[in-house]
Amino acid sequence: MLEWKPDYETGVPAVDTQHKVLFNNINRLEKLLDKDEIERAEADYLLDFLKQYVAQHFQFEETCMARYQCPAHPKNKEQHAQLQNALAHFNQDYATFGPLKELLQRLHATMVWWINSHILKVDSQLKGCVPSKVFVELSPEPDWSALANHMISGKLVAGGAGGAGTALGGCRIAGA
Ligand SMILES: [Fe+2]
Repeated sequence: MLEWKPDYETGVPAVDTQHKVLFNNINRLEKLLDKDEIERAEADYLLDFLKQYVAQHFQFEETCMARYQCPAHPKNKEQHAQLQNALAHFNQDYATFGPLKELLQRLHATMVWWINSHILKVDSQLKGCVPSKVFVELSPEPDWSALANHMISGKLVAGGAGGAGTALGGCRIAGA
């Protein structure tokens, strides 16, 4: 099972929260794979989650990287496109073959690889680019609320006094 550790932090609480949502669902996939029989409804849910997640989280994170002029921004966008492409292939195979254990095992392995190669090596570079008094929140919130329901605990928007910031394409800067 994946466990959160400080090395995964990006310096942006909202991005970290989104990553924790991903960890939670990859662990759900691992639990599903431990069973003798794959539950179709659970597999459907997890595939649907990943589809929504890549569309919404990647866009948010890329906005943050651009906002803070993170040098990892081009690499981040490139790798996001690669994972989106890989997930599109998984979705095609899933639609054709259904919840085959081998297919879901490959999906799980891909996502664990993603955590360790992408979040740890690319996303974490955001940390050095974010000013210390900054907080970031998602906008618009309704698009994210479905994913927020899948969190283990905590609130989606973390940090900051709220209300005093300036909206900047999804990233909000306290006092800026
Ligand atoms: Fe990323």
